[in-house]
Amino acid sequence: MFAWSRLEDRSARGIAAFVGRAIRDGTLPVGTRLAPVRAIARELGVSPTTVSDAWRELARNGAIESHGRNGTYVRLPDPVLAPRRYRQVTDGRAEFELDLSTGTPDPALLPPLAPALARAATRGDLTTSYADDPVLPELGDILREDWPFPPESFAVFDGAMDALDRVLRETVRIGDRVVVEDPTFPPLLDLLDVLGAVVVPVGVDECGLRPDEFATALRDADPVAVIVQPRAQNPSGAAFDPERVDALARLLRSSPRTLVVEDDHAGAIASEPRLSLGAHLVDRTVTILGFSKSHGPDLRLAAIGGASGPIDAAATRRQLGPGWSSRLLQAALAELLVDAHASDQVATARSRYARRRLHLVDGLRKRGLAVSGRDGINVWVPVDDEQHALVALAARGIAVAPGTPFRVVDPRHHIRVTVASLSDSAADVVDAIDRAARRPDAVRRA
Ligand SMILES: Cc1ncc(COP(=O)(O)O)c(C=O)c1O
Repeated sequence: MFAWSRLEDRSARGIAAFVGRAIRDGTLPVGTRLAPVRAIARELGVSPTTVSDAWRELARNGAIESHGRNGTYVRLPDPVLAPRRYRQVTDGRAEFELDLSTGTPDPALLPPLAPALARAATRGDLTTSYADDPVLPELGDILREDWPFPPESFAVFDGAMDALDRVLRETVRIGDRVVVEDPTFPPLLDLLDVLGAVVVPVGVDECGLRPDEFATALRDADPVAVIVQPRAQNPSGAAFDPERVDALARLLRSSPRTLVVEDDHAGAIASEPRLSLGAHLVDRTVTILGFSKSHGPDLRLAAIGGASGPIDAAATRRQLGPGWSSRLLQAALAELLVDAHASDQVATARSRYARRRLHLVDGLRKRGLAVSGRDGINVWVPVDDEQHALVALAARGIAVAPGTPFRVVDPRHHIRVTVASLSDSAADVVDAIDRAARRPDAVRRA
């Protein structure tokens, strides 16, 4: 019989979290048949609806499944299905003349890695020991100097997604609520699904999370974490301004258990300044700084600095796996960060991307489309009918990403266009996107 005696919170959420933990720690093994709802309700002195709500929550996370009259059973989320949103973005990309679907930087605008790698490989200070500091001291010094707040702890992981994965694994338990921006990066939603989190979507405007919706989410959901992209938000192009940072920090003060996770994945190619909630909430913010967009996706490095609890837990857990991110690559990154020529190349990339996005955004706005966002390599375009837009663009040899995988609510009304490789004067592309964004009958009338 399941030991309910340690259950403290008898709300649906409390019951879901308690059972979720029991599934996670193996007390309730996969395949266990749960007692009937009414029996549990009687035992706990709550209404059957409360237990049903808890079950619904767990079923949504894939932690349990109902076999109808045969009962409800413990299961684990199917890992094969895990990256389903991500796959919707990446699958089925045939050969297109112009691929604006990928979210990746323009290879022609990346600083060359070869000289930095060659210099790194001939340094005498690279490790031969498993016991060395996982962060190359020189890289740590360079990055700490510019960090937007004094980090309690600091680590380097294999890209922003690896950092998110490792920190969230240490933070989120089945049934925990996590606030995300809506729209957001599809692999993040997939990751939260795998962790069994209950996603609480909050809309974004040009400056990030909408404070009114965020206030409601904090009050109603008491989330364990909120995950934001402080600038170059993928896909919306939002970026914090100082007022928004103040407003969000003020709201977070009344939710002391909520960890802030900032995913600054675009890093040095973002045009907007590096603002952080960590300046206000230093002991419960972790900020990830990515180098994939600025220095190359295959450099596969991101830094993370901030609250020691989650960062140290993630770094310690990694000791049981790869232990550290290649110090050879860390040294190459350090070489690139102090190299004036490489820095100029990154600055050039940043201004090219800004020009390319402005070209598309201005062009679409002039044609009457309500395109918002102000930073990064992605433009979030509202369309009448997503499927029609994808097909209409494909017919002209242009690939863009469907908006639905980025959405928690209100799918099917956007496409995401990556402008990284768009030529600076692509009037025909602007025209094609504008036409594809409208219903076929509206185009015919125009
Ligand atoms: C919001 C966001 N986070 C994380 C990533 C992944 O970054 P990385 O390549 O550093 O893992 C991306 C990639 O596009 C992204 O858009």
